[in-house]
Amino acid sequence: MTFSKDITDKVAELVKRYPEGKQKSALIPVLHLIQETGNLSLTIEQMDAVAGLLNITPIEVYEVATFYTMFNLKPVGKYVLEVCQTGPCMLNGSDQIIDYIKQKLNIKNGETTADGLFTLKTAECLGACGYAPMMQLGKTYKEFLTPEKIDAILEDCRKAIL
Ligand code: FES
Repeated sequence: MTFSKDITDKVAELVKRYPEGKQKSALIPVLHLIQETGNLSLTIEQMDAVAGLLNITPIEVYEVATFYTMFNLKPVGKYVLEVCQTGPCMLNGSDQIIDYIKQKLNIKNGETTADGLFTLKTAECLGACGYAPMMQLGKTYKEFLTPEKIDAILEDCRKAIL
């Protein structure tokens, strides 16, 4: 596959931020770009094409894309609920929050609702332990989660698409 000129221009801009010959350093921002301009996930074909653009091997792209939970390797919903499950969040009730979301949306961890709106993912520490339990929703953090807050967040998401 090939990317549009708009995308390849943006990739070239990202690569310019790094010293010559160090184009692999642009890999994470390039993967973000491809994911955000696509359907919020990365395909094998896209990752292979990224390897071509950066003149690195496909395995180097797969290693990064599979390591970081922020990259989705299968289609996800419009809203991805990434609930932290590391120690401080767990001690403050993240398990109950995860169970509540599962029951409320009738999905398991890693699944997407039938309407394509929500995906539930668990994440390791997101660096906001003082606000536990918390989750990432797009580019925002939702903190001190309770079932009531989850209800309100889901409702706000639903309203946003009306
Ligand atoms: S343990 Fe949840 S943000 Fe650090």
